[in-house]
Amino acid sequence: MRVLVIGSGGREHALAWKIAQSPQLTKLFIAPGNGGSGEIAENVAIDITDHQAVTDFCKLMAIDFVVVGPDAQVVAGLGDDVRAAGIACFCPSKAAGQLEGSKGFTKTLCDEMDIPTAAYARFDNAAAALAYLDAQGAPIVIKADGLAAGKGVTVATTLNEAKAAVSDCFAGAFGDSGAEVVIEEFMEGEEVSLFVLCDGTDILPLTTAQDHKRAFDGDTGPNTGGMGAYSPAPVMSEAVYQETLTRIIEPTVRGMAARGTPYQGVLYAGLMLTKNGPKLVEYNARFGDPETQVLVMRMESDLLPLLHATATGDLKGKTVAWKDQYALTVILATQGYPGAYGKGSDIAGLENLDDANLHVFHAGTLREGRRLVASGGRVLNVTALGNTLEDAKDRAYRSVDKIVWPEGFCRRDIGWRELARQNARSS
Ligand code: AMP
Ligand code: GLY
Repeated sequence: MRVLVIGSGGREHALAWKIAQSPQLTKLFIAPGNGGSGEIAENVAIDITDHQAVTDFCKLMAIDFVVVGPDAQVVAGLGDDVRAAGIACFCPSKAAGQLEGSKGFTKTLCDEMDIPTAAYARFDNAAAALAYLDAQGAPIVIKADGLAAGKGVTVATTLNEAKAAVSDCFAGAFGDSGAEVVIEEFMEGEEVSLFVLCDGTDILPLTTAQDHKRAFDGDTGPNTGGMGAYSPAPVMSEAVYQETLTRIIEPTVRGMAARGTPYQGVLYAGLMLTKNGPKLVEYNARFGDPETQVLVMRMESDLLPLLHATATGDLKGKTVAWKDQYALTVILATQGYPGAYGKGSDIAGLENLDDANLHVFHAGTLREGRRLVASGGRVLNVTALGNTLEDAKDRAYRSVDKIVWPEGFCRRDIGWRELARQNARSS
């Protein structure tokens, strides 16, 4: 199979790395890719926002299968355009991508299918939203309806903070994405992510992971795209996992099919484990970044045929096997991220990493001759396997400490919630 991966982040490097190991692969391209993906695939400099350019490339290079990574391309309907050109594509339709692209859409589906989620109300003007806040009080959660690069959500602990968030949204802080605002009940609990492949009808649950969204140790600082993750996440017990499948995932898949917009792709459920059971925080219509990095490290099975079966409605009866180990990834980011940051600093020391259970996925990197330079906010994903979570964490940080990049920073506490639980149990 000749495959094209779309994207340039750590998630896409990880997908390409795993696909590159498939016996079914004959040739792998990645567009545009990054400073690491060029070692395992051919980086191609096409503009992925230009769907015609993508399909022209596919025809020229006789691509059999396209795997789309980023949310922006899902929501823009790249999958529909690739399929219209007669090429199989792992990417939900634009209509199904609304599960990520519109928080209001997902809330309506939850109502219809009786899926547990935070109580909410939708507003298209500030006056009504502010009046609702007065009636509800704090803590409360304010969300811009559309995609806002992970920045459109305010968990407000005071009424003033909540009102400021509503005013910002309607004043255009998130452009069109904030033209409608969803106000939600604050859910208390621990967050966990579940990844499930869906072919429109059948599902194949993959596994759990836990992300670390805040920039700094102890879950402090601003929200980011994710500063590290581990998998599996034992905080989700077998019983809660089954409840999540029957009460959240399966009704979603049924509801989407009944609407005539079957969901075909990976469904990434962000869940809150509350004292009243698992509740949906949000859906994403693509793999997580950095969760994919830990998923592919643990996956025993060949990923390529599973993605192809998902895209072609052939998941029934498929299974997936996992290593009986933990994987943990630490993100190295440029100082200043998620705010403004510089570009072009040199990264060294990767050649000194010698752990066979470790892989460094690249995100914002570029090769400039023999130099490896930082070109983005999140830059490297140092990802380790271990027989215990502690072991995976130690391996990851031992390698992090061999990387020489004074302009970068990372969290030192990835995995802390689960490690604290495990340590409490063993003491
Ligand atoms: P979202 O973009 O919807 O995932 O929201 C970003 C983050 O805000 C989530 O990962 C949660 O940490 C937090 N969050 C969102 N909705 C709620 C809620 N209803 N209650 C508590 N926290 C929330
Ligand atoms: N790690 C969060 C996300 O991929 O949205």
